[in-house]
Amino acid sequence: MEIGGKSVMITGGCGGIGLEMGRLFAEAGKDVVLVDANIEPGAALARDNKRIKCVRCDLSSASDIEQTLGGHAADILINNVGISPKFDADGNRIRTWTMTIDQWNTVMATNVTSFFLCTKVCLPRMMDRKFGRIVNIASYAARIGGYQAAVHYTTSKAAVLGFTKSLAREMAPYGILVNAINPGRIETPMTRDVPKELSEALIPQIPAGRLGVPKDIANVALFLCSDLADYMTGTAVEVNGGLYVGP
Ligand SMILES: NC(=O)c1ccc[n+]([C@@H]2O[C@H](COP(=O)([O-])OP(=O)(O)OC[C@H]3O[C@@H](n4cnc5c(N)ncnc54)[C@H](O)[C@@H]3O)[C@@H](O)[C@H]2O)c1
Repeated sequence: MEIGGKSVMITGGCGGIGLEMGRLFAEAGKDVVLVDANIEPGAALARDNKRIKCVRCDLSSASDIEQTLGGHAADILINNVGISPKFDADGNRIRTWTMTIDQWNTVMATNVTSFFLCTKVCLPRMMDRKFGRIVNIASYAARIGGYQAAVHYTTSKAAVLGFTKSLAREMAPYGILVNAINPGRIETPMTRDVPKELSEALIPQIPAGRLGVPKDIANVALFLCSDLADYMTGTAVEVNGGLYVGP
């Protein structure tokens, strides 16, 4: 399996799935930039692997993306950052009828607008080189409406799928391929805010008989950026152990 390009940008790169993707792309010989608001979890990986660099950036802020990421355009972009707030400051579940416009806008800025802005950072380089790979991390929640996720999260992930299809059509003539991955339930810091019993209650509904781990997603991201996937664009790959197998 060959992976073209020299450099990789991974947003939300110091989270559960991001770190694993960073490790795999670095092992594949790429220079990797992990972009995150909290870079501490990436520090050990970056120390042990000179190919990996962590860059602090608030991806919900258009101005921070512009100021911080301008010099980090990459051949491969993994739009991976995502937040899924489920509880308010008082510990109550966020419901559509209690959700504030600020809560809604923060999720959209992080989960959708950052994908657009980071793509804009990388496109000129990709177009110059007539090579680019973009992988957008969406979610099975976009397919089924989510089990515990609130409506802003599910809506944002459905938007990512539309963004993927449209961008794929626009960029294929420039040698830039764009695909999405819909992870199922993956054990990461994101899913730790849901009580363990709720996550485990999902296992009987997963034909593969287990929750996912970050490597399940990172392997597919690597494949989508490899020559094995050279004729794939505009797709959304379901990586969920069979939790969702619908159309
Ligand atoms: N874990 C799952 O079950 C699951 C399921 C479906 C989809 N996903 C998607 O996979 C992607 C990765 O999720 P994960 O499970 O690794 O989550 P995670 O919480 O472990 O990682 C997310 C990372 O994003 C960073 N981040 C959040 N807001 C940010 C901001 N404003 N600016 C910069 N960085 C910010 C966090 O610091 C964190 O390091 C997300 O898009 C998520 O929606 C996850």
